[in-house]
Amino acid sequence: MELREVIGRRRSIRFLLPHRPVEPEKIQRMLEAARIASHWGNVQSLRAVVVFRDSATPEQLAALQAPIAGFQIRLAPVVIVWYIDTAAVDEQSDRLRELLAAGALGFGEGKHDALEKQLIPVFDSIRDKLKEPGLGELDCGQGIAQATLMAYEQGLGTCCLGSPNLDKIRAALGLPDNGRVLLLQTVGYPAESWEAGGQRPRQPFEDLFHMNAYGNPFPRDPEVVSELTRDKLFTRPAPLPWREAELAYLQKALGIKGHGLL
Ligand SMILES: Cc1cc2nc3c(=O)[nH]c(=O)nc-3n(C[C@H](O)[C@H](O)[C@H](O)COP(=O)(O)O)c2cc1C
Repeated sequence: MELREVIGRRRSIRFLLPHRPVEPEKIQRMLEAARIASHWGNVQSLRAVVVFRDSATPEQLAALQAPIAGFQIRLAPVVIVWYIDTAAVDEQSDRLRELLAAGALGFGEGKHDALEKQLIPVFDSIRDKLKEPGLGELDCGQGIAQATLMAYEQGLGTCCLGSPNLDKIRAALGLPDNGRVLLLQTVGYPAESWEAGGQRPRQPFEDLFHMNAYGNPFPRDPEVVSELTRDKLFTRPAPLPWREAELAYLQKALGIKGHGLL
């Protein structure tokens, strides 16, 4: 599958086949994709604990349960607990030295001196600030996005879920003190059609993106839109006419009680 089609097929898939385990190698491919994502200063603060429902302890599984969208956690054969290790920032000077040695940063004879005497001291002076929510989370999001696309390329479905129990999860999984849980990502084989009701609504392109200054909408070339539609990046908009029937079927087949919102 081409990258454009993978992006187009990505949906939050809430309904997973509970009886079909996910091969660990498919999860590994997701993690490999996350690992090579870009990070500021090459800090690499994204971490994960992958919880397999078939082998985790009842305590570990119980910690993942959330009052919101709880059925999704129950159905998922795999839940990836993504977290940020803020201590990665403490080793940032070494990461910068590695970048320099790799030829990815700076040039010329003076670059070593400039790194040690100018750039590293700048980062040293704001180290604590850099551990606060901000750029680090952005990096983690890039890694999670790459893992997500890898999941869809392999025929899997996923859904990112926040949780009010992040501290409980941290304790139950034995994460280090410096770990800040970011989100849970359910992973499995989709029980719903890949379209999952169609492309979910998005705000108009022109309202989101600007050229040169705010207020000047980025021009949207219809030919590019046609090209991306041809390449399957754009798909039929939700809701497809049979979506409600599909949802009723899924609810019954998977034994989901209530309205599915909580
Ligand atoms: C970072 C992140 C956190 C999310 N948290 C939740 C959540 O806590 N509960 C939930 O039901 N959906 C959650 N979602 C899924 C979004 O609601 C979903 O992405 C949105 O409905 C758009 O659908 P789409 O992903 O299929 O385009 C989250 C998505 C992201 C990217």
